[in-house]
Amino acid sequence: AGEGEMTKAVLGIIGGSGVYDLPGLEDMREERITSPWGEPSDVLRIGRIGETTIAFLPRHGRGHRLSPSDINYRANIDVMKRAGVTDLISVSAVGSFKDEYFPGFFVLVDQYVDRTHKRETSFFGQGYVAHVPMAHPVGPLLRQRIADAAVAEHIPFALGGTLVCIEGPQFSTFAESMTYKRQGYDVIGMTAMPEAKLAREAEITYATIAMVTDYDCWHPEHDHVDVASVVAVAQQNAAKVARLVARVARDFPAEHEPCPAGSDRALDGAIMTAPSA
Ligand code: ADE
Repeated sequence: AGEGEMTKAVLGIIGGSGVYDLPGLEDMREERITSPWGEPSDVLRIGRIGETTIAFLPRHGRGHRLSPSDINYRANIDVMKRAGVTDLISVSAVGSFKDEYFPGFFVLVDQYVDRTHKRETSFFGQGYVAHVPMAHPVGPLLRQRIADAAVAEHIPFALGGTLVCIEGPQFSTFAESMTYKRQGYDVIGMTAMPEAKLAREAEITYATIAMVTDYDCWHPEHDHVDVASVVAVAQQNAAKVARLVARVARDFPAEHEPCPAGSDRALDGAIMTAPSA
């Protein structure tokens, strides 16, 4: 939206491992929105919490059918856009590289490192070229709203951090884990990229709630990550995620706040291709 224009805020939520629905969603309806980009992970569940409209999508589909490499990230972001989503909160289970980021702890990351290599990462190409800025991939106001909600709900979290996103589906080797840790990365997951890039191209303000489920495989005093521990911790903390998201929603402004990182106008000046004559 241009300067001075009002845009109704619609909050999108993408649920990760262990977060397949959103308790507390009122007046819920299911919408099967079709996308020229293909099949999204599931039907969109649209409802409200307080006065705020919410669109919820489980990233892996109900029953967890989609591997991180098989998710159609473009279709997911596209259906969110078509549902009018202005602000998108992505929930992801992650491994931790810091002693103090224990299982059940939340990290409100502000940076991503993309180590994926076999995903469709852009809506552009095929004769239409755009380069959006990604220096600050997370909307600072949206992230601060999540932080405020976490404080209000007495949920422990860190403000800021770097998430390295690997292709998977295998977990990392010890050498990889040590390398990421030494690089100073905070957490590791498999799905934040290209989601964050595509949200930016769609001019949707994006933030991640990274829920720590394990210490990956670097920690001398903790078991190496496995699916059983990820699922167990994610399930134990799903209610906390729902509580956090519900608080963000209840306190959300009616109109989308212009993003200081420019996420809601990322295409201004980003398109290289000449307008066709
Ligand atoms: N998701 C949850 N834990 C993870 C880990 N250790 N590595 C990659 N993705 C994860």
